[in-house]
Amino acid sequence: MSDAEDPTTAALAEAAEAAGYAPSVHNTQPWRWRVTRAGLDLYAARDRQLRMADPDGRLLTISCGTALHHALVALAAEGWSAAVTPLPDPADPDLLARITAAGRTAVTPDAMRRFQSVRVRHTDRRPVSDTPAGEDAIEAIGRAVRAEGLELHLLTRDQILELAAAASHADKVEAEDEDQRTELAYWIGGDRPGGTGIPDTAIPSEAPRTTVPGRDFVRAGTLTVGAGHDRAAAYAVLYGQGDEPADWLRAGQALSAGWLAATELGVTVLPFSSVIELPATRQTLRGVISNIGYPYLVLRLGTADPDSAGPPHTPAYRPPRPSSSPAAERSRTRKRGWAADGGPATLPEEGQIIQRFFRTKGRRAQRRPRPQVCPA
Ligand SMILES: Cc1cc2nc3c(=O)[nH]c(=O)nc-3n(C[C@H](O)[C@H](O)[C@H](O)COP(=O)(O)O)c2cc1C
Repeated sequence: MSDAEDPTTAALAEAAEAAGYAPSVHNTQPWRWRVTRAGLDLYAARDRQLRMADPDGRLLTISCGTALHHALVALAAEGWSAAVTPLPDPADPDLLARITAAGRTAVTPDAMRRFQSVRVRHTDRRPVSDTPAGEDAIEAIGRAVRAEGLELHLLTRDQILELAAAASHADKVEAEDEDQRTELAYWIGGDRPGGTGIPDTAIPSEAPRTTVPGRDFVRAGTLTVGAGHDRAAAYAVLYGQGDEPADWLRAGQALSAGWLAATELGVTVLPFSSVIELPATRQTLRGVISNIGYPYLVLRLGTADPDSAGPPHTPAYRPPRPSSSPAAERSRTRKRGWAADGGPATLPEEGQIIQRFFRTKGRRAQRRPRPQVCPA
């Protein structure tokens, strides 16, 4: 049996493809996948790291953690139990995780629901509606985060005002830094190959009325914002006990788990990372959580404005490509190659690409980096 025909390899490759739906800072999608006989390897794509805003790669690794969690959700929905080894090779810090399929398992309704949320989850930068996310929903989101070993601290009214001051300070500092502005301008608005970056359709056309200012993208998009004010929003700090790559990866998994739970419950999530990027404002957030851990991200939680249309998915997806026989798929892939398909550059040492199967089942395929299937 060839690699591409092996059901485990095919399942891993499909999981990597589903992980393309994961959220990432500025939609950089800073991950690459390789499927080998040993499992599914997740690599940091350093060429998509925000060198100015994220010199340590914290947000990059959190983003990769969301993709890792999405891949696990996809495997569970296909009836696979899986094991994760974080940072399996000390000699290669860019190899962030290895997933191995541990065998077949029953598909639960929860697993199916979670996978459906993968496909509808998105970032909504409009003000939230006047209907707050209920206490039960916020508690359920917290449970999903805790199940991944992290914590969510809900801010009090005074702490929200402190956050608002920190967010405007962080934005001001970034806006005054020319290198930061140049980096932001590269990823925001317009069109990029591979569907990376934040499109104009996801950026508000005018500054939304909010207590805590959202990130200033220094560019007006086309997303219409209503006249509402997000005074009913709740804000929470996602935090954990360490500040190393393994902790950031875990934070991404928890972010994904919490966000998918929120999506199921009709709660919108907007991450705030500028306050994490600036050491001074991150320190403020540490104070907010009484220095009991390290803040990774701030999340705004609320319900969407029912009177105006939300943003479309980020990025634009391609129409589905019908599945074909593995042999035909392989031959087409050999002719076309992965990078030619719109995915950003591949790993330099990549081996022969044997394409993974597309089982579209009516799902929309995306312009996102494709996993590689390589001989071990
Ligand atoms: C680690 C991380 C940090 C983020 N920071 C921000 C932020 O500061 N402001 C913002 O508007 N969106 C932020 N986002 C949301 C991303 O921009 C969004 O996930 C990405 O554009 C993909 O869009 P989607 O979530 O609709 O699929 C962040 C997401 C992640 C994972």
